[in-house]
Amino acid sequence: MRPVSPGTNLLELPTSLLQQWIDEHRFVVLKGFAPLNGAALPDFCRGLGELLEWEFGAVNDLRVDPKTKNYLYTNRAVPFHWDGAFLSRSPHYIFFHCDAAPDAQAGGETLFCDTVRLLAQAPSELQKLWQHVAITYTTEKIVHYGGRFSSPLLSSHPTLGFRVLRYAEPVEDLNPVQLEIDGISKEQQPGFMADMHRRLNDEECCHAYRWETGDVVIADNFALLHGRRAFANQAERHIRRVNIL
Ligand SMILES: [Fe+2]
Repeated sequence: MRPVSPGTNLLELPTSLLQQWIDEHRFVVLKGFAPLNGAALPDFCRGLGELLEWEFGAVNDLRVDPKTKNYLYTNRAVPFHWDGAFLSRSPHYIFFHCDAAPDAQAGGETLFCDTVRLLAQAPSELQKLWQHVAITYTTEKIVHYGGRFSSPLLSSHPTLGFRVLRYAEPVEDLNPVQLEIDGISKEQQPGFMADMHRRLNDEECCHAYRWETGDVVIADNFALLHGRRAFANQAERHIRRVNIL
């Protein structure tokens, strides 16, 4: 979505309209609006709901930190997940503000998988099997999240009611995430994870969003899973992210 006059203030967009678009399309891309500098960013996000306050505050600065002990702050890929998974309450929206985008060929796309579409494409016998699957996730709390929690693979969208998939891929990187899968035999688990990886990346339900500086993206964290492609070593990529409950 672009404004008629470039540089229009985002506050001119009614939040009810934004929410309606997100409900319908899962994520909305806003280009050509005036950047939200400093406190203007969380102020705008408050219009969409209560902000999730992490240890660092509401705004997560996603960029490479050479001293990091967590893979999110590297240039490497981020497997699919949903935000706030390790909390008792997940945020509804994820707000991204791109302050610096890598060059077009440098990678760093954010991957959005529409799990409603994924489920629509999965054969019914497979969905029957998935109904009995629950996964326990474990990670050491080194940055702002961590611990251990369990989630059924299939859930329902808390506000829209339709069925969604809740799945986070294992992380084998700095600050790894381990999965214990109930409802599938040990022998079948590698095949299950490989099949899920293929389904999540299927272009029928997965969109690789290539960032441009100044972009704003607002995504439905309940319906989508998201991840990131790796980006070039020297590429600059800075995204400010806010979770909205
Ligand atoms: Fe995330």
